[in-house]
Amino acid sequence: MEALRGAEMTIEEPGFYAVMGRSGSGKSTLLHLLAGLDRPESGEIIVGGTAVHSLGETDLVRYRRRGVGIVFQQFNLIPTLDALGNVMLPGLLDGMAERDVRERARALLHELNLADRSAHRPDTLSGGEQQRVAIARALLLDPPVVLADEPTGSLDSTTSAALWKLLEQTAQRRGVTVLMVTHEPVAASYCRRTFILHDGRVAGSLESHGLDPSQLAHRSTELARSA
Ligand SMILES: Nc1ncnc2c1ncn2[C@@H]1O[C@H](COP(=O)(O)OP(=O)(O)OP(=O)(O)O)[C@@H](O)[C@H]1O
Ligand SMILES: [Mg+2]
Repeated sequence: MEALRGAEMTIEEPGFYAVMGRSGSGKSTLLHLLAGLDRPESGEIIVGGTAVHSLGETDLVRYRRRGVGIVFQQFNLIPTLDALGNVMLPGLLDGMAERDVRERARALLHELNLADRSAHRPDTLSGGEQQRVAIARALLLDPPVVLADEPTGSLDSTTSAALWKLLEQTAQRRGVTVLMVTHEPVAASYCRRTFILHDGRVAGSLESHGLDPSQLAHRSTELARSA
């Protein structure tokens, strides 16, 4: 079965972007393809100049580590490691010197306002804190692209709003592309552009930054309907 067909999208400039579409429209599939976790049967996936669809196994492993950072709805932190240990993990797996990894991880925890949570294990952190640890981990190896699949799906609305703001700032400050799947129009209003998926196709996109969420919901439904 084809989960995606004719899903064409291009992002030229770094920044914060959203993907919306109803359940089953192919949003997670799209992110998995971009992350190099799934392979397309046909078509091209080019991320930061890398032709992901044609990478061999060894390069693909490297791409998954250095080419993209991934943030999940359920945070996916290692329960037995503290915040610092979780953020350091990708660097250690990549064979970087422990001292350098520790230094980077500390700087990121500081940047994400988590310096005083470094020694906490995930089960002693709030949901918002856990997700910020996961974002720090995704940024450790400085990927040009961060992919987030419903990153606030498990958070309350106040914490969610803070996280969208943070992702927007992170994209801006670090010059990375953050692509976020979301069901919430208000989340998309933090993003410069929102791509609308419908039945495995990109139905279109709209400039969404600062757009009124009810307007955004209305226009995205229209785009999906016209696809
Ligand atoms: N590994 C797979 N093999 C074949 N079909 C799949 C596979 N994974 C998902 N699908 C199908 O592809 C379609 C898109 O699924 P996907 O998980 O990408 O949707 P989604 O937009 O992320 O939905 P949701 O909002 O519920 O998370 C669905 O019809 C799904 O059943
Ligand atoms: Mg999904």
